[in-house]
Amino acid sequence: MTTDTTTKSAASGATPGETVLDARGVTMRFGGLTAVSDVDLTVNSGEIVGLIGPNGAGKTTFFNCLTGLYIPTEGEVRYKNQVLPPKSFKVTAAGIARTFQNIRLFANMTVLENVLVGRHTRTREGLWSALLRGPGFHKAEAASRARAMELLEFVGLAAKADHLARNLPYGEQRKLEIARALASEPGLLLLDEPTAGMNPQETRAAEELIFAIRDRGIAVLVIEHDMRFIMNLCDRVAVLVQGKKLIEGDAATVQRDERVIAAYLGEPLANDPGAEEAAEVEAAEAAAEATTDAAPGKENDR
Ligand SMILES: Nc1ncnc2c1ncn2[C@@H]1O[C@H](COP(=O)(O)OP(=O)(O)OP(=O)(O)O)[C@@H](O)[C@H]1O
Ligand SMILES: [Mg+2]
Repeated sequence: MTTDTTTKSAASGATPGETVLDARGVTMRFGGLTAVSDVDLTVNSGEIVGLIGPNGAGKTTFFNCLTGLYIPTEGEVRYKNQVLPPKSFKVTAAGIARTFQNIRLFANMTVLENVLVGRHTRTREGLWSALLRGPGFHKAEAASRARAMELLEFVGLAAKADHLARNLPYGEQRKLEIARALASEPGLLLLDEPTAGMNPQETRAAEELIFAIRDRGIAVLVIEHDMRFIMNLCDRVAVLVQGKKLIEGDAATVQRDERVIAAYLGEPLANDPGAEEAAEVEAAEAAAEATTDAAPGKENDR
């Protein structure tokens, strides 16, 4: 009987520059509402890609379409050239892990137990072994705990392994969610507003953590409203507005795009000449401000 060694990694074998995620024409309708409309997006190995857009733009819905939580009304999602199965646990097993906008932890489990739960897609083959509780099971369990502790060390929570998840401050709960996602050994990590509720120091630490994740060979797709965070972090940024991809490009290109500025200022995109003129003035002012402020540290654009 084979027992999973718990070291299997979906991240291993990634070729630099390989397309990890390929979403084509993804559309999600809820009755009469089109939350996501014909969105194409790719993420390559070694990349950190940002997904931004106003509230209700369809960002989380798009993530749900990528992770098997929703079956897109139209379109196709491929991970490393394989069409993804429409079940979230199968998507996780294939190599895509995620965190949630509204933290989803097992509040009454310890920090370590939460990470161990995240490992189950990598230890399924050990089911018989687990039932029989033979030497293979104990070996696999020890390896799993060691890996979970290593991940807690990586995110800076090792000292709190035995604490209950509900007793962690908010910022640490977000880190724990990341550790749990990493426990499934993904090749692509999707983060839905990882710095929401964090203070500036925690946000900076989260930035470093995401760079370190990328350096471990895991591609990252991240949703955030914090523009400074996104622009510092991302190789490419895609902007969703009313379910549609408005623009995609490097941080500088996206940052100075007037439609993006207008979308964030809440100006209507419709052809209202008065509104358009006002938007242009505001956009120019914002762009001037952005250039002044952004020069050394990109202190702007929240
Ligand atoms: N399960 C659902 N049923 C019906 N409508 C939904 C469902 N999920 C999302 N929506 C709608 O789809 C639209 C997009 O919502 P979504 O949560 O994806 O936006 P978002 O870009 O993540 O916004 P935020 O920045 O506020 O998190 C909204 O109008 C929302 O009300
Ligand atoms: Mg959302």
